[in-house]
Amino acid sequence: MSASNKSHALSQRPRRLRANAAIRNLVSETQIRPEQLILPLFVREGLTEPKPITGLPGVVQHTTASLRAEIDRALEAGIGGVMVFGIPNHRDELGSEALNPNGVLSKAIRDIRAQVGDRLVVIADLCLDEFTSHGHCGVLGAPDASGNATVDNDATLEIYGQMAVVLAEAGAHMIGASGMMDGQVAATRRALDGAGHDEVSILAYAAKYASAFYGPFREAVESQLDGDRKTYQQDPRNARESLREIKLDAEEGADIIMVKPALSYLDIIHQASQLVDLPIASYVVSGEMAMIEAAAAQGLINREPAILEALASVHRAGANIICTYWAIEVAGWLNRR
Ligand code: PBG
Repeated sequence: MSASNKSHALSQRPRRLRANAAIRNLVSETQIRPEQLILPLFVREGLTEPKPITGLPGVVQHTTASLRAEIDRALEAGIGGVMVFGIPNHRDELGSEALNPNGVLSKAIRDIRAQVGDRLVVIADLCLDEFTSHGHCGVLGAPDASGNATVDNDATLEIYGQMAVVLAEAGAHMIGASGMMDGQVAATRRALDGAGHDEVSILAYAAKYASAFYGPFREAVESQLDGDRKTYQQDPRNARESLREIKLDAEEGADIIMVKPALSYLDIIHQASQLVDLPIASYVVSGEMAMIEAAAAQGLINREPAILEALASVHRAGANIICTYWAIEVAGWLNRR
C-alpha cells in the first residue's frame, strides 16, 4: 500500500488543526497576557544590597533602590500588577509595625504608587505574619489544651481592618487579604468603607491551603513561624471546603477570588471559576517555582516551555489572573512573539 493510499474510513482527523504553528495559534484556547500577570515583591527594611532567596533564581529581598528599578522593569514589560510584602526590622506579639504608616510596607506602597500612578495595579498584602514575633498570620489567644499557640480570629480582624486603612492611605489600589481568618473580607470591607476608601478593592485569598510549597517564601520573609498554620489555612485533602470559603468571601464583598497554591490545586481553580462570577486569580507559589527551576537547572526539563506550560495549565483551569515570580520574564517572552 502506498503512502497516499490512506484509509478513507477516517473522517475525523484532529491532527489537521495541529499541522503548523499558524493553524495551532488560530485554534489556541488559552492566551496568557502580560496585563494579567502579578509579580510578588519583597521589600526588606534597612537593607543596603538586594538579597537573593534560595531556590528562587532572580527573586530577591529588595532595597528601596532595587525596588524602584524592578518597578521600572515591570512597567516596561507591561505586567498587570505587583503584590508587595514588607519585612520589618522590629517584630512583636501584636505585629504593631504593620500599622505604622511609615513602616516598611506602607512606605514601599507609597513609593511604588508615586512611581506608577495607575499604570499598573498596586496590591498590598494584608497579613500579620511578617510582623509578628511568633510568625503567625494573626495575634495569639490562649494556648489550646496541648499548649499549642492558637490565633485569635476576631482580635486579628480588628487589626486587619486598621492595617487595611493604613495600606489604602499609603496608596494601595487593592488589598490582598491573605490571612485566612474567618470574616476577614467583611471586616476589611467595613474598615475601608468606614475610612472613605470604597474605591479600594479586595483580592480575597479565599481558598488558601496549608501547603508544603511555601518553603522558599518563608525564607524570603524571614518567617519566625515555629509550627504550622493548619488551624486557619485549609487542609490539602479537601475540595468542597474551598467552595464554602469561596462563597463566603464572595458574599462578604470580595472583588477577586484567589486560589493558592496553583499547580496542585487546578481542580479548585476550575470549580471556583464555575461557582462565582468574580474574576479568579491563582498564585504559583515559591515551592512550585523552585521545583521547576531545580529540575530545569539539572537539565531534566526545558525551562521556558515548562514555565509556559505550567502557567497555561493555571489559565486553562480558570484563573485569568496569575500571580507569579516569573511575571516579568514571561511577559518578555509573550511580547517577543
Ligand atoms: C502568608 C503567606 C504565605 C505566602 C504568601 N503569604 C504562606 C505562608 O507563609 O503560610 C506564600 C507565597 C509563596 O510561597 O510564594 N501570609
